Amino acid sequence: MKRILLGDLEVSRIGLGTMGMSYAYTGAGTDDAESVRTIHRALDLGVTFLDTAEFYGPYTNEELVGRALKGRRDQVVLATKFGLVSHAGDGPWNLDSSPANIRVAVEGSLRRLGTDHIDLYYQHRVDPKVPIEETAGALAELVRQGKIRHIGLSEAGPETIRRAHAVHPVTAVQSEYSLWTRGLEERVLPVLRELGIGLVPFSPLGRGFLTGKIRSTDGFAEDDFRHGNPRFTGDNFRLNLRIADEVEAVAAEAGATPAQVALAWLLAQGDDVAPIPGTKRVGRVEENSAADGVRLTPGQIGRLSGLPPAAGDTHPESGLRMMER
Ligand SMILES: NC(=O)c1ccc[n+]([C@@H]2O[C@H](COP(=O)([O-])OP(=O)(O)OC[C@H]3O[C@@H](n4cnc5c(N)ncnc54)[C@H](OP(=O)(O)O)[C@@H]3O)[C@@H](O)[C@H]2O)c1
Repeated sequence: MKRILLGDLEVSRIGLGTMGMSYAYTGAGTDDAESVRTIHRALDLGVTFLDTAEFYGPYTNEELVGRALKGRRDQVVLATKFGLVSHAGDGPWNLDSSPANIRVAVEGSLRRLGTDHIDLYYQHRVDPKVPIEETAGALAELVRQGKIRHIGLSEAGPETIRRAHAVHPVTAVQSEYSLWTRGLEERVLPVLRELGIGLVPFSPLGRGFLTGKIRSTDGFAEDDFRHGNPRFTGDNFRLNLRIADEVEAVAAEAGATPAQVALAWLLAQGDDVAPIPGTKRVGRVEENSAADGVRLTPGQIGRLSGLPPAAGDTHPESGLRMMER
C-alpha cells in the first residue's frame, strides 16, 4: 500500500472507515468479531489510516476501534471527530464546537480509543454558533498539550477552511466525494490545493451504491440510514442505477471490481486524496485495498468523470442544513 501526505501527515492512500461497523447501515453492530478481524486485516494489508467519530453509535464505534487496536495503536494513524454531540446535556445531533465542549469530547474519545493521543481530530460539522477561530484555537491548545497531533474539518466551505487554517494549519478536510458526489471540485478543492491541505473523501463508494451490489433497498434494515437518503428513494434510486451500471461496465473493461474502480478514480484525482471506504467484512477490505494497484486508462477515467449527475441530494434537508455548500 502506497503512502501519501495529507498536509504533513503521512497516511496509507486508502484508509478504512469504521462507521458502518457500529452505526448507520444494515448489519451494524451485529458481528463485532468480524469487524475487529476486518480492522486487523486492514493493518496487515498496510491500510493504516482509520476513521471513526464519537457520534458513531454514539460512542460504540470508538469503543470497538479501541478494542481492536489494543497492542497495535502505534501501527495506525487514528482519526476521530467531535462536534455532533453536545456534552452539555443535549446529546447527539446537536452541533457544539465550543471550546468547553471540545475539551470534554476529547477526553471521552481518548478513553474509548484507549490512547493518549489522536493523530487527526476533525470538527464533524461546522457550528454556526461558534466562530471557527474559537474552535481552531481550542484545537491548537490540544495540539500543544499533546492530546491531538493534527486538526481537520468536515463538510466545511472555503471561507471556514481559510479562517481555521489562519489560526492553526488544517491538515485535512473530510467531505463526501465520489463518482456521484463531486460538488467540492469547484470551490473547495482549489482552496485545499492552494493551502496544502489534504482531502479525505468519505462515502467514496456512494454508501455502497457504486459497488453495483445494491439493486434494491428491500433488504435494508428498518433503521438503515439510507432509507432517508434522497438518492436511495423513489424514482431517484431507479434513475441512479444507470450510474452503477456504467461503473460496472468500466470495471469489466479494466478487469477490476466496481468498488475498486470507484476508488481508483478517486486516487487518480491526486496524491493529496486519501479515501476511507467503509466495510465491516474481511473480504471487502481486501478487495477495496487492492484498488491501490488498479490503473485506469485516460479513456476510462474520462468515461467515469463524464457519468451523468446523480438524481437526488446526498442528504435529506435536515442533514444538508448542517453542511456548508
Ligand atoms: N465526515 C462525515 O460526515 C462522514 C459521513 C459518512 C461517513 N464518514 C466516514 O467515511 C467512511 C466511509 O463512508 P461510508 O461507510 O458512509 O460509505 P462507503 O465507504 O461509500 O460505503 C460503505 C458501504 O459499502 C459497502 N461496501 C464496502 N465495500 C464494498 C465492496 N467491496 N463491495 C460491495 N459493498 C461494499 C459496505 O457494506 P459492508 O460494511 O457490509 O461491507 C457499506 O454498506 C465511514 O466509515 C466514516 O468513517 C464520514
